Amino acid sequence: MSQQSASETPSSEVPLPIPADVRAESPQAAPPPVQVHIQGLSKSYGGKTALSKLNLEVHEGDIFGFIGPNGAGKTTTLRILSALLLPTGGKALIAGIDVVQNPRQIKELVGYMPDSFGVYENMTLFEYLDFFGAAYKIPRTQRQMVIRDVLELTDLGSKQDDQVSAFSRGMKQRACLAKTLLHDPKVLILDEPASGLDPRARIEFRELLKELQRMGKTIIVSSHILTELSTMCNTVGIIEAGKLVAAGAVEEILKSLRTTRMFVLDVLEVGDAPRAADLIGKQDGAEVVESLGSAVRFGFSAANPDIAGLIDRLVAERIRFTSFREELADLETAFMTLTNGRLA
Ligand SMILES: Nc1ncnc2c1ncn2[C@@H]1O[C@H](COP(=O)(O)OP(=O)(O)O)[C@@H](O)[C@H]1O
Ligand SMILES: [Mg+2]
Repeated sequence: MSQQSASETPSSEVPLPIPADVRAESPQAAPPPVQVHIQGLSKSYGGKTALSKLNLEVHEGDIFGFIGPNGAGKTTTLRILSALLLPTGGKALIAGIDVVQNPRQIKELVGYMPDSFGVYENMTLFEYLDFFGAAYKIPRTQRQMVIRDVLELTDLGSKQDDQVSAFSRGMKQRACLAKTLLHDPKVLILDEPASGLDPRARIEFRELLKELQRMGKTIIVSSHILTELSTMCNTVGIIEAGKLVAAGAVEEILKSLRTTRMFVLDVLEVGDAPRAADLIGKQDGAEVVESLGSAVRFGFSAANPDIAGLIDRLVAERIRFTSFREELADLETAFMTLTNGRLA
């Protein structure tokens, strides 16, 4: 199995804002049913503990980012979920089906893409997919149609007669995903799929994941590079040394990690900004960080900042504003806090 060291992370990686359409539902909305349920999962290799009583839930339709440094236990977890590896203890269920008791059903339900994929010499893309289609026992009469569908989905329709060995890394990865989709799995388990992709291929990959999500699939995607996943996932779990450190909606994790919440107030009249800054500065726990033009940026360090009180005071002082919003921390900062900087 290929292991990439964190030092290989391109230094140009920058955290991107989380797009609105992958944001978590409002907390009031009932969550969809749990699709993947991991309870007290443990795994030792010889005497070495790789997973230690891991608990995790992934809901139907989630794009779940499984993040952790190299050696944290991501691949071990994903292989157990795909019924390719037996746990030493605990349970893992997918759609209520136990991965140890019913490995066959699990293999029908799950599409697993490993973190490294072999190069198939002297095979066209169509031959490659036809070969695996036959292995999945898709009848010959249906296979052509299924292959056409997965090629279209992965945007490789025009490449079916090309040699797979000549593909770029991004194309090989899409070819591998096309193979993973042949048996129309409900749950996709993708181990470090974005590693080594250039930014453009990564954006295409993100769009593909969203398309698969719209088709009703539940997706688990792992990475040791935070910024790779921050724009792809609606929920994340952070694993370190075989234990889950945090899990939940991306925004919720970010909120819970903040000791100081940051806000930005935009006043209608630029001339009102100094008065607004003055008023905010007098609020308990609030501190103005900067006042630039019509925008006043400030931190609230109180556990329960009196936001309603602040708004009341602004209105009472006739300071009219066009927006009042909270700034969310980026995932990178959050994970650095959680893993004491061990995650790049
Ligand atoms: N086949 C194996 N034999 C022995 N130790 C292993 C084996 N596979 C993984 N490990 C160990 O288990 C731990 C978790 O590995 P892995 O699940 O591959 O982590 P990750 O995918 O997060 O990098 C690591 O310490 C690794 O060295
Ligand atoms: Mg791994």
